[in-house]
Amino acid sequence: MNVCQRVPTVANVCQLLPTDTNLISLHPPLPLPHSPQNLMYCESSRPVYFYGANKAYHLSKGFNLNRRVGGEDMPENAMTMIGLHRLNNIQHCVEQVLQDHVPGDFIETGSCKGGAVIFMRALLKAHRVTDRTVWSCDTFSTPTPPGNVVVHNVVVFLVWLLASIPSLWFRRHLLRFVMKVNPEFPADDNPDDDEMHALVFIMKHAYLMKPRPGVMKGLTSVQSNVARYGLLDDQIQFLQGWFDQTIPQAPIQALSILRLDGDTYPSTMDGLKLCYEKLSVGGYCIVDDYFSLDGCKRAVDEYRTLHGIEEEMVRIDGLSCFWKKTMLGKNY
Ligand SMILES: C[S@@+](CC[C@H](N)C(=O)[O-])C[C@H]1O[C@@H](n2cnc3c(N)ncnc32)[C@H](O)[C@@H]1O
Repeated sequence: MNVCQRVPTVANVCQLLPTDTNLISLHPPLPLPHSPQNLMYCESSRPVYFYGANKAYHLSKGFNLNRRVGGEDMPENAMTMIGLHRLNNIQHCVEQVLQDHVPGDFIETGSCKGGAVIFMRALLKAHRVTDRTVWSCDTFSTPTPPGNVVVHNVVVFLVWLLASIPSLWFRRHLLRFVMKVNPEFPADDNPDDDEMHALVFIMKHAYLMKPRPGVMKGLTSVQSNVARYGLLDDQIQFLQGWFDQTIPQAPIQALSILRLDGDTYPSTMDGLKLCYEKLSVGGYCIVDDYFSLDGCKRAVDEYRTLHGIEEEMVRIDGLSCFWKKTMLGKNY
């Protein structure tokens, strides 16, 4: 049996644990960043991963500890794909803003299965902080359930055929089309080449991706993930939909952690435009894909230039960086 199937669901987690118990209180004093990565069960990755700076795509065979720790694989069941260094970075930033009394909530733009926001909420709990909220933003789109195996195989073959057409012009149009129909990311009329290479790689290896039930990404599944840690309460709020439609409606006064993980140019730019002004001086801006996705880097560089942001960017691992906001930006 898949280990994931043994994990309690929202429905029975409350029956399993006494009402005032949660996993954090079982492991004092600090939350364990290993847990949302599923390091314990060595579960496999989806069959692709990319390695940060050189953006080389490879097939991954089973579980690889280094890649999981570096946040370079795409885990099947783990609640986050960001790896141990970036989870440690979250802990560092959270504890620093708490110690320095920097006002504001925490936000992640792009939460997927929820592991990073679960960890943020866990840190608040571990430090007994009750006056800050974690905002989790995503489309939380529910994946299409797997269909008939024969139909799946025919679709996979057609996808492989399309991806094998060598014309760059065709591939660019294919990427634009896929972005338009993909309910997870907003369409981008000017996508970068690395997104095109990623798409072609994934399409060519789609035959390795088996149809499977329950990819934990819909809103109910993510809330269920949070509940498994005993952390589903008012201090974690979910904004479901496109960032530019949900974040402006949310009653967010100030932020002390802004974690950008929307991958693409428009998503990263939206996260910055909608949230950076609210980031308190002393707070942290974390960019998950600065070194791995050109669109993300382009958005951050443009925004920093436009607003005269000169704080030093610090590398976290092969893919990511962060900076501490030390002054107000210009021209908001
Ligand atoms: C790389 S995943 C996030 C990974 C996650 N932080 C983790 O801990 O594993 C990127 C997510 O951002 C979401 N996303 C990207 N652009 C978005 C947008 N403009 N509005 C809403 N969600 C968006 C995608 O649907 C996807 O789930």
